[in-house]
Amino acid sequence: MVLMSPSMPSGGTFTREDWALTCDLCREHDLTLVYDAAMEALLYDGRELVHPLQFEGMAERTFVVGSLSKEHRMIGWRVGWVAGPPEAITTIRQVAVYNTTMPVALARFAAAAVLRGDQGHVAECVAELQRRRDLLLEELPGWPLVSPGGGWSLLIDVESIGFTPAEASRILLEEAAIAATPMPGWGGPVAARCLRFVYSAEPLERLAEVPDRVAGTALAAAAARS
Ligand SMILES: Cc1ncc(COP(=O)(O)O)c(C=O)c1O
Repeated sequence: MVLMSPSMPSGGTFTREDWALTCDLCREHDLTLVYDAAMEALLYDGRELVHPLQFEGMAERTFVVGSLSKEHRMIGWRVGWVAGPPEAITTIRQVAVYNTTMPVALARFAAAAVLRGDQGHVAECVAELQRRRDLLLEELPGWPLVSPGGGWSLLIDVESIGFTPAEASRILLEEAAIAATPMPGWGGPVAARCLRFVYSAEPLERLAEVPDRVAGTALAAAAARS
């Protein structure tokens, strides 16, 4: 089972109860859990970070995959890690060495400095991302936004207002100069209804322009009617 919380791109988060159920399932069916921890600290509204390793019997069946890209905003540095049961990690290390050799030394030194350094920037980042989410939710009333509990993006269920994600994406690009990715292919029938807004690199001032940009589009008209 491969899981991520907060998840990309929905920003969906797992509660303690969700994790308890997941861990029960893993134990009952003898499953291995691959936990993508890339965004685990990017949690809004004071949500607690619940880790699958807190549950009994999970250490021997869980692989934690982490990265500098999200919490440390170091996309492009290509440094990540895997933690898991020692026997398997030996094999994973060999696979990594033979496939990628290793991250360049410069990136590894930067990673060590960042991971050993003050982590206060993560809370500042979370607060800023939460302000961006809140602004989007506030300035697009009626739009079928799926409110994220963390992460740095959100989904819009455009099918619920009569558009395919591809149509909605084209309208936003051509008429509002907003690039939003259609989600078909990202995860079954739910993703296939949605468009993605990524606000990780959009300061509040730019997000504040969104209502003016979308005004007059068929999407805004449909959202107003909904
Ligand atoms: C689901 C998911 N996990 C983890 C990552 C981080 O990957 P990387 O460290 O290769 O940037 C990404 C990056 O976009 C992602 O989409």
